[in-house]
Amino acid sequence: MEGSRHSGDDWWRSAVIYQVYVRSFADGDGDGTGDLAGVRARLPHLAELGVDALWFTPWYVSPLADGGYDVADYRAIDPAFGTLAEAEKLIAEAQDLGIRTIVDIVPNHVSDQHPWFRAALAAGPGSPERRLFHFRPGRGAHGELPPNNWASEFGGVPWTRLDDGDWYLHLFAAQQPDLNWAHPAVRQEHEDVLRFWFERGVAGVRIDSAALLAKDPELPDITPDRTPHPYLDRDELHDIYRSWRAVADAYDGIFVGEVWLPDSERFARYLRPDELHTAFNFTFLTAPWDAASLRTAIDNTLAEHAPVGAPATWVLCNHDVTRTVTRYGRADTGFAFADKVFGTPTDLRLGTRRARAAALLSLALPGAVYLYQGEELGLPEADIPLDRIQDPMHARSGGTDPGRDGCRVPLPWAAGEPYAGFGSVGEPWLPQPPGWSTYAADVQAADPGSVLSLYREALRLRRTETGFGDGALHWLPSAEGILAFARPTGLTCVVNLSPEPAVLPHHREVLLASDPLDAEGRLPQDTAVWLRD
Ligand code: NOJ
Repeated sequence: MEGSRHSGDDWWRSAVIYQVYVRSFADGDGDGTGDLAGVRARLPHLAELGVDALWFTPWYVSPLADGGYDVADYRAIDPAFGTLAEAEKLIAEAQDLGIRTIVDIVPNHVSDQHPWFRAALAAGPGSPERRLFHFRPGRGAHGELPPNNWASEFGGVPWTRLDDGDWYLHLFAAQQPDLNWAHPAVRQEHEDVLRFWFERGVAGVRIDSAALLAKDPELPDITPDRTPHPYLDRDELHDIYRSWRAVADAYDGIFVGEVWLPDSERFARYLRPDELHTAFNFTFLTAPWDAASLRTAIDNTLAEHAPVGAPATWVLCNHDVTRTVTRYGRADTGFAFADKVFGTPTDLRLGTRRARAAALLSLALPGAVYLYQGEELGLPEADIPLDRIQDPMHARSGGTDPGRDGCRVPLPWAAGEPYAGFGSVGEPWLPQPPGWSTYAADVQAADPGSVLSLYREALRLRRTETGFGDGALHWLPSAEGILAFARPTGLTCVVNLSPEPAVLPHHREVLLASDPLDAEGRLPQDTAVWLRD
């Protein structure tokens, strides 16, 4: 095992973690849907890329009303993906290649097909089974109005009424009823599920919607002056995560929380030493391609993590947001769910150039880095024909939000094969756009100038050179529009976001540049470089 892959118990403080969206990664049995056989067959690609861990989006039994974030059985693999025995093999095979596994636990809600919810429906109003969820009578003379004024995270009303008159709460789609975290059985069950997966050799757990679980038991209306918020970032959560931490510690397991919170101090509370190890950095993900904005995002990130001693994570995209090369090729290079519309003009050449530079920036910052499958191929966001969109965000927005399927298109592996080598015999579950095979991994592997070659080389250097990952960062003096910082042992990263070519600081060696330097050895616009002093 080489480099940082097995550098002790603190691997997660510096790791490069690759997100696998199983359904779209590789299709091993040809049925149109990615699966564990597909992942196992492509493990060499991941080893060659040089990642330290894989985070699998939910692979459990699910009706896929929200791409698997509607779980019907947390202890079994969806038959479309494979079996539990196969997951165990995959975990072991990855481990043999020095790659750890992180599973995705969805504690805020279950599928409406989960046995608990089916039992609650059958048992009727007022039953103990319904206390595992949030069932309430409606408002209005005949209970015909929702119990409160909340809005679904996916748009629309987060309440659905049953024929027996009760309403149930679902912060996401109607097929995702929220659990009642004040109920001891809910806590017990999730701690058992954590143990179940740690027993199977996983190294960590991603926690879905981690700041939403706890609810004010009164489920009151949201009003501008109401604090605390009735379901976001409530103090009760910290007690839950302290218990989870005790479970994880028994296995040396780690957590990464999906915590979308604008307030730095509140965010950092989740990362106290007896709670979660890490959380996704959405401040960085949503920042526009602008030197001042990125520097502020980096400074704020480091400042909020420092007091709790947690490492930062650096994330440019995931399965919920617009792909990086597309986002950076638009007039508005930041990201906000509310701003997503159809038909935004995009310059993919520009976006790709910036995404290459952003890759070197994020891989040089202190902490861990998350890559989303296809990011290493420079895949753009795809336009999905309206009648093929499956994401509930699209339908629940009344059709105005394009939804998240554009970043979930089946990966192109081999240019000369049907469906770009994804593995399907017939059409994959989401259509690949025209020209998808030009991004194929096999084509890129043979091209030293490709995005894949850049990522491979960057990850190789990050593993074999000193100064990367967890540790200190010092900003170097630089002109406006330029980010320049030093890491330990004489490693320097410079990113030029200004129109003028930048003269590089003193160095002995150029380790890697995202695009060629100019004839005078200066750093062109939208280019990043790693230097060794
Ligand atoms: C966050 C996940 O990343 C997203 O894909 C999902 O729709 C929601 N949580 C609900 O589980």
